[in-house]
Amino acid sequence: MALRLDKYLTETGAGTRSEVKKMIRAGQVTVNGETTRKPEQKVDEKTDVVFLSGKRLIYRAAEYYLFHKPAGCVTATEDNLHRTVMDYLTDTVRGDLFPVGRLDLDTEGLLLITNDGEMAHALLSPARHVPKTYFANVRGCVTEEDVNRFLSGVDIGENAPARPAELTIVKAGEISEILLTVTEGKFHQVKRMFRAVGKEVLYLRRVSMGPLTLPDTLAPGEYRALTEEELAALRALLPGGGH
Ligand code: URA
Repeated sequence: MALRLDKYLTETGAGTRSEVKKMIRAGQVTVNGETTRKPEQKVDEKTDVVFLSGKRLIYRAAEYYLFHKPAGCVTATEDNLHRTVMDYLTDTVRGDLFPVGRLDLDTEGLLLITNDGEMAHALLSPARHVPKTYFANVRGCVTEEDVNRFLSGVDIGENAPARPAELTIVKAGEISEILLTVTEGKFHQVKRMFRAVGKEVLYLRRVSMGPLTLPDTLAPGEYRALTEEELAALRALLPGGGH
């Protein structure tokens, strides 16, 4: 598939669209050994060999990062008031990355950041029911009755009850610790489910989404590229298993 040279350069992480245009016009880019000053020149990412300032560029169409979202940043690409999750991705300059799904301002945990729209759709589509597991501290003693109510589907004020969700009590007490797996992603889903049983979520962290699990080694605010194994597991979610 042929694409414009300036787009090719941005997708290798060489810079923003306007930065790479300047690099091309300044004669810093060669395609198959020839200097070109045309940002609109078409290149074939599979066969053409592109150098920027004497360095070979490797084209990657899609990037995937596992981010441990800290509390206090918004899941958006731009915000006037708060830091966004994108502000943490300091090693990548490509401008087309976005977070897959939303976590509240005060929620921590696993967030996939990518530029792969098809993958985002496969993970978020309400019809797919991709499981997401959260760890929470909850004010109030979480009981077996809550476990059963969550299994039958609690009323969170939508047209239909919440889908059955698996609640595991890690520690019951004045402040309980729980794990909850839900297969939908309504606004404030977990907080509303606990409110429906008269309890309040004090702390929330997403620990998994589909086949991805938040690694212990990733502190809040840190991110890393997905491993080949994680990517293969994600691709299996795509229609046709990603093949
Ligand atoms: N449920 C919530 O209430 N908040 C989140 O951020 C994620 C799930």
